[in-house]
Amino acid sequence: MKKEEINKRYRKQKKLLDRYNHHYFNLDAPLISDSKYDKIKSEVIEIEKNYPFLVEKKSVQDQVGAPVTKRFKKIKHSIPMLSLSNTFDTIGMNDFISKVSNYLNIKNKNFSFSSELKIDGISASLTYKKGILIKGLSRGDGITGEDILENLKTIKDIPKKILDEYIPEILEVRGEVYIGKKDFKKIKKNFANPRNAAGGSLRQKDPKETNKIPLKFFAYGFGVINPMIYKKQSEFISKLKDWGFNVNPLNTLVKGVEQIERHHKKIENMRPSLDYDIDGIVYKIDDLSLQKRLGSTSNSPRWATAYKFSSEKAISTIKDIIIQVGRTGAITPVAKIEPVTVGGVIVSNATLHNEDEIERKDVRIGDTIVVQRAGDVIPQVVSVDLKKRKKNSKKYSFPNKCLCGGKIQKEFNASTKKQDAVRRCNKGYDCSFTAKEKLKHIVSKEAFNIDGLGKKVIDQFWDLNLIKNPSDIFDLNFDKIKKLDGWGELSTNNLKVAIEQARNISLNKFIYSIGIRHIGQENAKILGSFFKSIDQFQKLLNENQRDEILKNLNDLDGIGETQIISIKNFFNNSKNIEIIKNFIIKLNIQNFSEKNKKGKLSNINIMFTGSFRKISRSEAKALAENFGGKVLGSVSKKLDILVVGNLKPTKKKIDRAKELKIKIYSEDEWYNFLNI
Ligand code: IVH
Repeated sequence: MKKEEINKRYRKQKKLLDRYNHHYFNLDAPLISDSKYDKIKSEVIEIEKNYPFLVEKKSVQDQVGAPVTKRFKKIKHSIPMLSLSNTFDTIGMNDFISKVSNYLNIKNKNFSFSSELKIDGISASLTYKKGILIKGLSRGDGITGEDILENLKTIKDIPKKILDEYIPEILEVRGEVYIGKKDFKKIKKNFANPRNAAGGSLRQKDPKETNKIPLKFFAYGFGVINPMIYKKQSEFISKLKDWGFNVNPLNTLVKGVEQIERHHKKIENMRPSLDYDIDGIVYKIDDLSLQKRLGSTSNSPRWATAYKFSSEKAISTIKDIIIQVGRTGAITPVAKIEPVTVGGVIVSNATLHNEDEIERKDVRIGDTIVVQRAGDVIPQVVSVDLKKRKKNSKKYSFPNKCLCGGKIQKEFNASTKKQDAVRRCNKGYDCSFTAKEKLKHIVSKEAFNIDGLGKKVIDQFWDLNLIKNPSDIFDLNFDKIKKLDGWGELSTNNLKVAIEQARNISLNKFIYSIGIRHIGQENAKILGSFFKSIDQFQKLLNENQRDEILKNLNDLDGIGETQIISIKNFFNNSKNIEIIKNFIIKLNIQNFSEKNKKGKLSNINIMFTGSFRKISRSEAKALAENFGGKVLGSVSKKLDILVVGNLKPTKKKIDRAKELKIKIYSEDEWYNFLNI
């Protein structure tokens, strides 16, 4: 078959499959028989395997990590199943250890790490009550998992009952379900890799189907344990062995970056001979009390990192260099390269980061280059082979205009006092390329999260003039959409429902979604808790009130000059004002609901000045918040307590606090007050 024919066939079958999947997974009402479904699915998988360039975003085989489907009962994890931060080299590992040491304010960096192979499978959580397996969940989206207990029970490595002299009343064991490489060979025809096979098998509707595929399990961690009596990760791992779990035999304890490096190389050399896929090593602080102090950011624990093996590299040539415009107007140069397989994936685009990088590497069209890809990271051009450069090659000159024709400039960065490396188009919604990216941000998972309205659909609706501004999302002409290629009655109805639901949005998500530069999810939360309601937030739209509000933002810990200038610039743009006004009218924006932690510090505003002896500023902040307190960034009447560290406290702040008769504590008085 010719390329176009294959493409056409693929798209047709994929569309059918998507429709059947929706009915089967989400509506639990299959449209066709299992055998017919299997036939179409096998065909699509076969095409994807043979022509990977056809696969756009999520391949059919890649169902892992997808939003929780309705097929299994959803159950909230008692403790979220987080992911891990990644580290790629020695510098990264040193950075990670420094961050740990800074956070804990412990100068000696010789921490003990539990070093564990990072198995490339599917994580699962197993809960035992008095030693009996009573609950088995998939990771799902990390907050809510799927009830896959019956399927997990078919795995021989998973004990159904634990016998020991002592077992905690509630014991949640976490680990990785995987398929051995040898076993995978036997079932290879249906899946792209062992990880997808494990995911597919675990999510089978009928546990008997799961049982047919030889799944295995390595245990590596815990969720809830009650009562919690373990002091070290390594101690818990050895308990897991006593209880009959499989624990990876290559797990060990290491100390300091040199040992880590040596160990890393040793395991990397063993990688091909292991019977399971690994993509790195997880290093976890062994001491559980330190783990507890370190806590987590919103996505990953501060006490662990996944140190990935060296990234895969390949050689290719640059066919062209184009520019892409991001939602903040940032211009990114991208090399269009001769397609090449890097780590099993076909790569035809690789980022060149920015103008300075092109200049530094002297990258030119026609050059032979090394391209690299590490995990989920965007492929990048690493170096140029100058020996292979053609004599007539010309130095690349960076465009001086955006794709919209507008000027592009490097801005001055107030905090680094340097010029940015990135050029930007600052026409905002007046640049159609930036505007389209802004719309994609609005519908993204972390913002409005509208099912059925992804990046591709934004492109389609943009071209058809259906969506040009955020408010258009909530004014769609569904009769028109129904008749479009690729749309039907059902998918249009689903979109309608999803959009209706999305009208209700929390204030912080709304603030995040409008895409003010430097206002990410965390800062949007801080702003949400400050403004509390959309009515208050809307005052920013009013020129007369804006400056006064911006002044007050200075009080917020986490919001600095960079953010304030950015908010100011955003609202100084009349087009933005018009767009935001029209957008708000369409929405039902809920007031910020403070998950007020009840604790000794609830309703109390605290501020820190100077450094402490025992903990870092970050830990002090996290600690205060855990007690229900709110940390402010400046001294004002609102402040209740000022805690003064011995190292370099700001005299002005102390004097002002004294003036305002605010309670002042020293570091030790503060610990006494908290009773810690
Ligand atoms: S610890 C909060 N340990 O890697 C700690 N994860 O990228 C998170 N994984 O979802 C997990 N081997 O599926 C941990 N020894 C190991 C692991 C491991 C594999 C997977 C797991 C997790 C993912 C995080």
